[in-house]
Amino acid sequence: MILIKFGGSVITDKAEYRKFNKETVARLADEIKRSGEEVIIVHGAGSFGHVVSKQYNLQKGYENDSQIPAMARVMCDTRELSAMVVEELLAKDIPAVSVPIGSCFVADGGKLVVDNEEPLRRLTDLGIMPVMFGDVITDRKTRFCIVSGDQVMEFLCRMYNPEKVVFVSDIDGLYDRNPKTDRAARMIGTVTKEKMESIATDSNVDDVTGGVRNKMEAMLRMTDGSRKCYLVNGNAPNRLYSLLKGETVTCTIAKGGLE
Ligand code: IPE
Repeated sequence: MILIKFGGSVITDKAEYRKFNKETVARLADEIKRSGEEVIIVHGAGSFGHVVSKQYNLQKGYENDSQIPAMARVMCDTRELSAMVVEELLAKDIPAVSVPIGSCFVADGGKLVVDNEEPLRRLTDLGIMPVMFGDVITDRKTRFCIVSGDQVMEFLCRMYNPEKVVFVSDIDGLYDRNPKTDRAARMIGTVTKEKMESIATDSNVDDVTGGVRNKMEAMLRMTDGSRKCYLVNGNAPNRLYSLLKGETVTCTIAKGGLE
């Protein structure tokens, strides 16, 4: 099994509130179907989550009552996004169902707590892909928090032990600086623990769940002696397909673990 995250920057237009990139998701679903690989997809929230979360400062948990309707709004928006992602998978004959983390799990101090894996396991045993996503969720300590799709990826990685982990993004790979704002940015082909230390930290300032460096740290945490983690550009047609087929493509490969 291959674990894949569709980044919010690929499946939505991050600059426009609730703008779904339907054609891109349809193409990515087609690439997965054609590859013949068994996959589990997690997706980000993009402009269905980050815009309102930032406006109401949902990241740090409860501060005042004005955040409560905003939290409900985000949960509604992310569910709508997920339903649209699932529609595109079903259209390509990939059985999938959206599983909102806040409906079955809680967080504790920002960390997702999963004490019952049975519903997920039973779905995958049936051959139905549970599609989970970054969302705002209730929290035992801070009353609510944001759990990113990356955190969901880490949980699913522990649970299903995939052979590969793939992050589908809107850039060709990991850059040492933000490639959208810094012309000196250079792509890093291979990420190891040692290379992490030299990566700039100030990217994607609009992104409430952290920048590129944090995502790469999460990638490295999902690697071990045999499992590699890839960051690939989902806007480049057939790149995901080729990667799933085991071909060499433009991408960043993380390997070797974080220890
Ligand atoms: C963010 O999830 C969740 C919310 C802001 C509600 P992610 O961090 O996984 O989303 P993207 O991929 O950056 O859009």
